[in-house]
Amino acid sequence: MEFAQHLKAQVDIVNVVSEYVRLRRIGNRLTGLCPFHNEKTPSFSIRADHQFFRCFGCDAKGDVLNFVMMIEGITFWEALKKLAEQNGIPLPKQSLASDDTTKLRAALYEMHEIAADHFRENLFGNAGASTRAYLKQRGVTEESVHQFGIGLADSGARLQRLLEARRFSKEQMEASGLVGRREDGSLYDRFRKRLMFPIHSETGKIIGFGGRALDPDEAAKYMNSPETEIYKKSQILFNLNRAKKTAMQTDRIVLVEGYMDVIGATQAGVVEAVATCGTALTTQQIRAMKRHSQNLHLNFDPDSAGTKAAARSIDLLLEESMRVRVVELEGGLDPDEFCKEHGAETYRARVDNAKSYFYWLADRARGKFNMRDPLGRTDAFQSLLPAIQGLGTEIERYTVANDLAGYLGVEAGLVLQHFKKMAADRVERRPLPRAELTAHSTDRILLPLLLQNDDARPQLVAALRDMTAPRMGATGPLYVTIMAMHEAGESISFVTVHERLPEGLRKLLEDIVLKDDITVATLEDGLACIEAWRRESQGEAERDLKAQIRQAEREGRFDDALRLMTLLKKG
Ligand code: CTP
Ligand code: MN
Repeated sequence: MEFAQHLKAQVDIVNVVSEYVRLRRIGNRLTGLCPFHNEKTPSFSIRADHQFFRCFGCDAKGDVLNFVMMIEGITFWEALKKLAEQNGIPLPKQSLASDDTTKLRAALYEMHEIAADHFRENLFGNAGASTRAYLKQRGVTEESVHQFGIGLADSGARLQRLLEARRFSKEQMEASGLVGRREDGSLYDRFRKRLMFPIHSETGKIIGFGGRALDPDEAAKYMNSPETEIYKKSQILFNLNRAKKTAMQTDRIVLVEGYMDVIGATQAGVVEAVATCGTALTTQQIRAMKRHSQNLHLNFDPDSAGTKAAARSIDLLLEESMRVRVVELEGGLDPDEFCKEHGAETYRARVDNAKSYFYWLADRARGKFNMRDPLGRTDAFQSLLPAIQGLGTEIERYTVANDLAGYLGVEAGLVLQHFKKMAADRVERRPLPRAELTAHSTDRILLPLLLQNDDARPQLVAALRDMTAPRMGATGPLYVTIMAMHEAGESISFVTVHERLPEGLRKLLEDIVLKDDITVATLEDGLACIEAWRRESQGEAERDLKAQIRQAEREGRFDDALRLMTLLKKG
């Protein structure tokens, strides 16, 4: 589709991806941890020159539109629309409203905007006075109220009527989760007499709400939006849209349990704080955080529910190769309460100095074993071994084991003994075998030149045409394709050629062109490569002829030998 090309020409894949993934630049290539699979070392790579991404671990790949579709889990149309809007590129009117899902989602986004405005108006209107007082008493500043878009859901069906007046259908209203339907078919506002926290997508669209009861007798303290077409609880983290920028800069992210904790932490200057919205932490949420930083400071409530959630979360976080520290706050306070009681500075120091999760685990173990008894201490130490075993390197494992032994009062000799056994038991984890590089070094010079250098291409194609023996081998078809496209006057770039190739050859082209660090080759380099090939294939032909001559002589076919010798001389 033409608009897609037009858009891709104006949007830089690097800018788009770096909103989602922490990237490091190496020459013309950028690498980072792949957002599409779990890994410890980066195999995700973007080439700005080709406007193409590829993960050499899981094989995810594509252009900027593919990336946005995959990472947001949205359709092609939505990705087009999103990128166009973000980059101020006007959309062609007719074509884009075609898809039903896209239409519904657009309606849901709009309803959520309307709802958020409505809730804010309530809060700042006359009926909001007591709620404003409540916020003030809880230490939520006016700046925070605005920053987080906090509002108030009043009683009745005012939002529902407002949406009706804006011509949303019953089906759309129900699908939004903002409105419920009674048995008799009538509609009502789902959220009533609640303090409303808008929940945003990572890119900042309102997709749901968390509602805190204002009436202390209300059974459900919190009520959240149900799952809808735009709100998937297991994928969303509250405040990630705001936290991600700082998280990338400071290379850490702070995970707390509640909306109020995020707000409290933010007011204390810890703005890279996010929370799950009333559900257990999921792998998808961890990956969303990991795209911005691999360093996680866990700051759950110290009550028993929070402790259990922390233990579960740590396991999952480690599975996803996050580096975990646990923030410990004394006095049974949650982050919000702690900030109020001890001040911003103290809280920040606690977050900054959070210790590795090992010490937290060790503290749990202390509570479970009899630490006055040497055997009890050994048992406590042993209960930590599985976690130690999960660590990346031998050195790390040994260092941590020693630290913990000291911390728990276990003899160092014992550590060594356990450690040796552990090492013996450990199964070597080998990295996955990578696709073999089948390409010649000349291919790595020539192919990028042919794809990128419009000035050099005509001469290179001509030189390739002049080669008497067509170059065979695995990469032959790549050249044949490029030459054919060039001669047909088609536009040539990595993407256009890539699109033209069958799957097996696509991989080959990616391996040669995308995997290497950039080398800026010139036309002369390219011609030298072709010349080397020519000589090489000539050498082969010569050797072949000589062998045939010897064979003919041995067999007494002298006429043949003579004919072959004249051929050899012509060369
Ligand atoms: N939560 C929920 N449903 C509940 C209780 C809690 O969804 N019935 C979620 C909310 O996201 C809440 C978080 O769990 O923010 C933490 O709960 P809690 O500690 O009870 O709330 P706080 O954030 O501390 O809020 P407050 O200080 O107002 O009690
Ligand atoms: Mn709490």
